[in-house]
Amino acid sequence: MGSKTDLLARPFFFHPPHLHGGGTEIINTMKNLVILISGGGSNMLALARAAERDDWAGRYQARITAVISNKADAKGLQLAQDLGLATSVVDHKAFATAADPRAAFDAALMADIDQHQPALVLLAGFMRILTPGFVAHYQGRLINIHPSLLPAFTGLHTHQRAIDEGCQFAGATVHRVTVELDHGEILAQAVVPVMPDDTADTLAARVLTQEHLIYPRVVAQLLALTTNNKQ
Ligand code: GRF
Repeated sequence: MGSKTDLLARPFFFHPPHLHGGGTEIINTMKNLVILISGGGSNMLALARAAERDDWAGRYQARITAVISNKADAKGLQLAQDLGLATSVVDHKAFATAADPRAAFDAALMADIDQHQPALVLLAGFMRILTPGFVAHYQGRLINIHPSLLPAFTGLHTHQRAIDEGCQFAGATVHRVTVELDHGEILAQAVVPVMPDDTADTLAARVLTQEHLIYPRVVAQLLALTTNNKQ
C-alpha cells in the first residue's frame, strides 16, 4: 500500500473544510451554469455528464445553459451541441483592432454570458487571461480548473515543467478566479504520481482523468450550499 501504483488507481482528493458558496450571488431559483472553453472540452463534457447523471436540475435546480468558446473551431463546441447544449462563439481575434483588444473582447464575452444570468461561470480549458473588470464582474461566481498543484506551476506547460523539476507528484486544482493568474482560493485538488517514463502528454492524460472527477464534485458542492431542499 502507499506505492505510486496504488495512487494511480486511487488518487487523493483534498477539499478544504472552508469551502463555501461564494456569498449572496447565487440567488436565482433556477441556477444557470455557463461553461467557457477553448479546446477539446473534456472538462465541459465531464460537467455535463455529471449534471445529467446526478440530476443537478432536480437536486440543485441547476442547469448548464450555455457553452461559450473564444475559438470557432474548438472541438468542445461540437460535443456540447451533440449533448443538446446551446453554444456560441466570441472570437477574440475579432477584437484585435480595438483600442484595447483585451477589454473589448471581455466586454463582448460578458454580454454573451450575462444573457444567461449565471449563478456560476465555469472556466474549463478556457485559454484566455481575463481583465480585472471581467473578474470583478463575476466575483464569487467564477471558477477555474488548472492542471497543476497550485500554487506550483501557474500558467502554461505545467506538465513539462513538473517533469523538468523532477516532481514525484503532479495534479490539478479547482480554484476561484481572482485577478492574479491561477492564484484564487483552492477549492479542491487531486494528486497523481509522476512516473519515470512520463512525457508531458502521458502525465497530462493522467491528470485529466482526475480533473474530470474533481471539477463536477466542486460544482455540485457549491450548488448544494445554495440549495434549500433536502438532498
Ligand atoms: C485541461 O488540463 C485544463 O485544465 C487545461 O486545459 C486542458 C484541456 O481541457 N486548462 P479540456 O479537455 O478542454 O477540458
